[in-house]
Amino acid sequence: MDTTVAIVGGGPAGLLLARLLHRRGIGCVVLESRDRDYVERRQRAGILEQGTADVLRACGAGDRMDREGEVHDGIELRFDGRSHRLDFPALTGGRRVTLYAQTEMVKDLVALQLQEGPPLLFEATARAVEGIETDRPRVRFTHGGRERTLTAEYVVGCDGSYGVARDAVPPGAQRRYERAYPYSWLGILADVPPSCEELIYAHSPRGFALHSMRSRTVSRLYLQVPNGTDPADWPDERIWIELAARFAVDTGWRLEPGPITAKAVLPMRSLVIEPLRCGRLFLAGDAAHIVPPTGAKGLNLAVSDVVVLARAFGHWAATGSTDLLDGYSETCLRRVWRAEHFSYFMTSTLHADPDQNPFQTRLQLEQLDRITSSGHAAAELAENYTGLPLSSG
Ligand code: PHB
Repeated sequence: MDTTVAIVGGGPAGLLLARLLHRRGIGCVVLESRDRDYVERRQRAGILEQGTADVLRACGAGDRMDREGEVHDGIELRFDGRSHRLDFPALTGGRRVTLYAQTEMVKDLVALQLQEGPPLLFEATARAVEGIETDRPRVRFTHGGRERTLTAEYVVGCDGSYGVARDAVPPGAQRRYERAYPYSWLGILADVPPSCEELIYAHSPRGFALHSMRSRTVSRLYLQVPNGTDPADWPDERIWIELAARFAVDTGWRLEPGPITAKAVLPMRSLVIEPLRCGRLFLAGDAAHIVPPTGAKGLNLAVSDVVVLARAFGHWAATGSTDLLDGYSETCLRRVWRAEHFSYFMTSTLHADPDQNPFQTRLQLEQLDRITSSGHAAAELAENYTGLPLSSG
């Protein structure tokens, strides 16, 4: 097999890149190690920045998002038993976010790609990326029990933080910046209408909690738990009692419990690999960087990476110039580090670190008070949450 751009990984980054390249007439093939059903069920966050929603629309993948997604004009912050709303359009000059689950976006991109191309191979397991310092890099993979090779002009690793693409980079050619957090999230899906119109981020002495949603009838909630927590230690009733305690406010608001249909513990970490390119291999999305989920930046960063990369491939295909490809890493890293900072800030301001002393707790509360009493501080959060313009950096 032979193509122009070999894409390893059929998550949102790989699928969207394929769509953007296809529309520019650039040949590509996507190799995804899992089957279609798995890819379409993988639970991830669901907040699309305005720029992300615009990109999906512009490439013809936004119809169902526009019908079924929900535009959100703000979030609620809860702390000290009080609730405060941040009004995004008022704070940012009109920016909003769209609630549309990553799984739904992936389903839309898979359906489009299977209809219109380019080739998308499920259960095609990449084993290694080779020859990245030559002008014919290749991906060795297995598919249908056979060993195969995909040769290309460029390879893009969109295969997540445990993928193989990154292993092709010689030791010493890339630097890792990493941080683990001393807590995890227990995430649930519940068949109950959300108890709120907009997302609630809660700081409480018992730990962080987040109320999100998937639809008018399905709620998605998270609570901070110690690392290494076994979901089996959290029967449904315990989860609802703990969530209600963390969201408690003095307004008569009630959290509506309901049947829990999924439960999982998610570790939290921050990671950036630099540079995002080595020879003819580019990294995009989770293969290049990880953020903790507080602030929902992961998917949006993956989208901005591949938008920059598709533009660079387009320029190269049209002119033969590699200028934009050569600038890919630097261009993306500015935005990546902004999102890393924001995700770290949201995480460390809202969670209770097990080693935290009362002084640090007072500082967190002071910071939250500042955000909810100063227009400048609120606008800083709102701008980051709704996303800086795609062209910035
Ligand atoms: C989600 O809906 O899963 C979600 C929303 C916002 C976050 C994280 C996760 O910050």
